[in-house]
Amino acid sequence: LEIRDGKITGIFSGESTPFSGEYENVVDAKGRLVSPGFVDPHTHPVYAQTREDEFAMRIRGMSYQEIAEQGGGIRNSVRRLREMPEDDLKRQVVQRLLKFIAYGTTTVEAKSGYGLDTENELKSLRAVKYARDNLPMEIVPTFMGAHEIPDEYRDDKTGYVQLLCEEMIPAVSDANLAEYCDAFCEAGVFTAGETEEILRTALDNGMKLRLHADEFEAIGGVEVAASLGAHSVDHLMAVTESGMQAIDDSDMVPTVLPGTTFFLGHDRYAPAREMWDRGLPVALATDYNPGSSMTYSMQMILNLACIKLRLTPDEALQAATYHAAGAIAREDHKGCLSPDYDADFIIWETGTWDQVPYEYGTNKVLSTFIGGEQVWTRDQ
Ligand code: NIG
Ligand code: FE
Repeated sequence: LEIRDGKITGIFSGESTPFSGEYENVVDAKGRLVSPGFVDPHTHPVYAQTREDEFAMRIRGMSYQEIAEQGGGIRNSVRRLREMPEDDLKRQVVQRLLKFIAYGTTTVEAKSGYGLDTENELKSLRAVKYARDNLPMEIVPTFMGAHEIPDEYRDDKTGYVQLLCEEMIPAVSDANLAEYCDAFCEAGVFTAGETEEILRTALDNGMKLRLHADEFEAIGGVEVAASLGAHSVDHLMAVTESGMQAIDDSDMVPTVLPGTTFFLGHDRYAPAREMWDRGLPVALATDYNPGSSMTYSMQMILNLACIKLRLTPDEALQAATYHAAGAIAREDHKGCLSPDYDADFIIWETGTWDQVPYEYGTNKVLSTFIGGEQVWTRDQ
C-alpha cells in the first residue's frame, strides 16, 4: 500500500512490490491482514450520562417503550444534557470517539438530539465540532432535534414541530454546524407528515437528509425519505415489501443496526439478507447511544451481521466500509483501499478477514491508521 499526502497512491502485491527505500516511512504489517477502517454512519455520542438503571429495568421485564412513556429514555437523557456544562460535554464526546478509533472506526457520523431546544442542540453540535477539530477521524455532524418531543412540549407537539422549523433548523443552518438533518419517524414520536415538514425545512436550509424509519412500526418514513432524496434510511426492523421497493427505486442506502435489536433483547432483525439479495447497498452501523445500543465496536456489529442477519463475512466487511461510506455520501474517498481513497486502514492481529467476525467480544485491532498516520496501536 503506497501512500502520499494521506491518500492511497498504489496497491502492489507479491513480486510487484516497488519498495526501494525512497519512502519517508515504511510500515511492515508482518503478513497480517490490512483492511479499510470502519465507517460508522449512525451514532448518538452527545449525551451526558449513561442509562444503566434503565438497562436493569429492561432486564427485569419493562420494555424500552414503557420506560420512554414514563418519562425515561431519550427524555431522561435530555434532562441530564441540559444540566451539563458545554466544556464537560465536549471532553466527554472526545473521550467516547477515541474508543471508536481503538476499535478500528476511522470515520463516524455523530448526531445531536438530547438537547431538544435551540440552545442545547447548538451546544451539542458545538461539542461535535470540537471533536472534529481535535480528533484525526472524519466526523459527519447531524442535527437531530426531532429525536423526541421534550417534556415542555408534551401536550403541544405541533408547537415543537413549529419550533424546529421556524427556529432550530434555521439557527443550526446559520451556525453551519450540521451537514445532515435526521428525525425519528415512529409511532408515538413523529408521524410521516410531521417528518416530511421537518425534513423539507432542513432541505430548504441547505442540509442533506437521513432518517430513522421503520424501527418498531412502518408508518411511511421510508417513503417520505425517498420522496425528499434522503441519503440513508436507518433501522428498518419493520420495513415492508413496499418500503424495500421504495428503497430500490431510490438512491438511498438502507443502514441496518443489529446492535439495537440485540441490546433491546428483541427477536426481529432488519431483513438485511433479503435486501442484499435484491441488490440494495446494505450498510451497517453501531447506533451507539446510551438507551438502545451501548457499543462503539463495529467488530461486535460484524459478529451480529453474520450470525443474526446472515450476511457472509465478506458482505459484512463491504457493508461496514464501502456501503457505510455511501450512507454518508463519502463513497468516493472513504471505505475502500484503492488509489485516490483516503489512507484510513486497520492492521489486524489476525491473518485473514474471516477471523474478524468469527471471534466475538474482543478487540482484534492491532493499529488504526487515518490519513496514512498511525493514530492508535496496541503494539508497544
Ligand atoms: O436510534 N431510535 C431512536 N433513537 C435512538 C435511541 C436513543 C436513546 O434511547 O437514547 C436509536 O435507537
Ligand atoms: Fe439512532
